[in-house]
Amino acid sequence: SILGLGLEVNVDYVAAVALDLGGNVRVVETRPVATAGTPPSTEELIELATDVRTALMADGHTVVGATVAVPGLVAHDNRTVSWAPNLGWDGRHLAAELEEAFGADCPTTIDNDANCAALAEAAHGVTTDVSHSLYITGTIGIGAGIVQDGRLVRGGAGFAGEVGHMPIGNPSRVCGCGRMGCWEASVGLRAMLSTVGIDEEDTPLQTALAVADLAARDASTRAALATLGHELGTGLATLAAVLDPAAIVLGGYFVPLGAYVVPAAGQVLAERLPSASIHLPQIRLSSLGIHAAALGAAEDALADVYAGTLAL
Ligand code: BGC
Ligand code: NA
Ligand code: ZN
Repeated sequence: SILGLGLEVNVDYVAAVALDLGGNVRVVETRPVATAGTPPSTEELIELATDVRTALMADGHTVVGATVAVPGLVAHDNRTVSWAPNLGWDGRHLAAELEEAFGADCPTTIDNDANCAALAEAAHGVTTDVSHSLYITGTIGIGAGIVQDGRLVRGGAGFAGEVGHMPIGNPSRVCGCGRMGCWEASVGLRAMLSTVGIDEEDTPLQTALAVADLAARDASTRAALATLGHELGTGLATLAAVLDPAAIVLGGYFVPLGAYVVPAAGQVLAERLPSASIHLPQIRLSSLGIHAAALGAAEDALADVYAGTLAL
């Protein structure tokens, strides 16, 4: 088959997803970082990508291109990571590095992880029915994929949607970007774990499930998650006031913990959004799971094949 390769870089793992033209996921592979506590190196990403691509080609598949979902600011050229605060990456020419490893037959581009996930939701997930949506990642960082009129909003330099660093969080919490009081330092995955007193597991899904398990048994965990949901809602109400989305999609760790955070977030939205009584955006949970960003990246890698038939 003809396949698109989607790669995902995160703070503590790299992942690969291969997607065919029928929207079927052919491979999902996740590898934790080689050194715990240290962000993945480009070499780790290249090794995973090469292994997956080589195996697919050995099975007779054609990998037409690769797109990398990165937890950071990607320049308008879709080739350069300008800054990934939680990785400590700065001005990295990631597309060129990967193309060098792959050779000429696998063109590679990069995009912001939340943008990729928003693309995936619009194509295969929970926003296929709306043309104005806001996707929020639930990872260590909090990012947004803003869709207006069926298109991703990218901003002047490509950096629109850097919502995790809005200064609306607890002012005494330090963020991976070096500042205090960022939203993601209050509602990101690590902030959530420190609040409920749980350690990170091997994969983000395992971590979130462990928290959900504890919450089901423990009232103080539920209370902590409701407080976090409130802080989440404060940001969502702010963003909804600016963007007027029809739907807000929560992804990543918010999905398994939806029952504990969404009610509080929805309450803030209903109380604080000026238009709430007339038009309240729906909060929806991602249907694409923890690898929505990699899936969107794989979708993007197929975009040339679709030849402009994609909605975004
Ligand atoms: C980054 C964003 C990213 C988000 C989720 C934030 O720290 O600045 O670019 O989308 O984390 O990974
Ligand atoms: Na974004
Ligand atoms: Zn920050």
